[in-house]
Amino acid sequence: MMRSRQRFLNGGYYQTLADGIISGLKQTPFGFNQTLLDIGCGEGYYLNQLHDAAINDSANLQLLGLDISKAGVRLAAKRKLGAQLVVDSAYKIPLFADSVDAVLSIFSPICPNETARVLKVDGILIMVGPGEEHLTGLTSHIYEQHEPHEGNFKITDEHSNFTLLEQIEIKSVVTVKGSDIFDLLTMTPYYWHSTAEQQQQLAVLDQLITPIHFYLRVYKNNTSE
Ligand SMILES: C[S@@+](CC[C@H](N)C(=O)[O-])C[C@H]1O[C@@H](n2cnc3c(N)ncnc32)[C@H](O)[C@@H]1O
Repeated sequence: MMRSRQRFLNGGYYQTLADGIISGLKQTPFGFNQTLLDIGCGEGYYLNQLHDAAINDSANLQLLGLDISKAGVRLAAKRKLGAQLVVDSAYKIPLFADSVDAVLSIFSPICPNETARVLKVDGILIMVGPGEEHLTGLTSHIYEQHEPHEGNFKITDEHSNFTLLEQIEIKSVVTVKGSDIFDLLTMTPYYWHSTAEQQQQLAVLDQLITPIHFYLRVYKNNTSE
């Protein structure tokens, strides 16, 4: 799954999302000079994008990444970004309180209490989840009717530590080519919901045109620990 995710993301299909995250971060009070923790960093694609953007801007961006998957963190380490990476849980972050300026959570589980603990007061949390039309070009091969995935914004929206500052919507259409289609399927939960026959049909497609649709919610941490 991690290797599929890495191959797919390295293909640039979610570049608009990476650009949206980078410009969202630049607009925070810390700009690009900050310490950022990516919770559920996976194989490190977004850390890599942030690293490259910071170098471009000659910014002092300290990157930290955490994921429960050893395979993911190992792939992230191979990117050689100078980031500090750890295999651990979002529910038990091995960092001191008030130690990071920003947290990123992209399609990953989040523990609001633990996230608020490690974030500085007024620190920023950027959460990314799927929009209603996300990957409908793929799901139309699997379901008769697309059921939009809710994401996990509810737990942070309702948590007293976090104030929602803004929501940014990112939407475009991508043409996924050849073996990237099967990588896309493999990196999503849809893989487990598809039959062997559907998987076979997707594996032989030359291209798949699909909307990609994301919401970025930017929150401020209100409270000290
Ligand atoms: C859908 S993937 C997203 C990965 C990455 N953020 C991206 O968008 O490419 C979800 C990630 O959350 C990680 N994960 C799942 N449970 C976790 C937990 N309790 N603590 C930390 N990471 C977790 C998985 O290993 C996986 O890398």
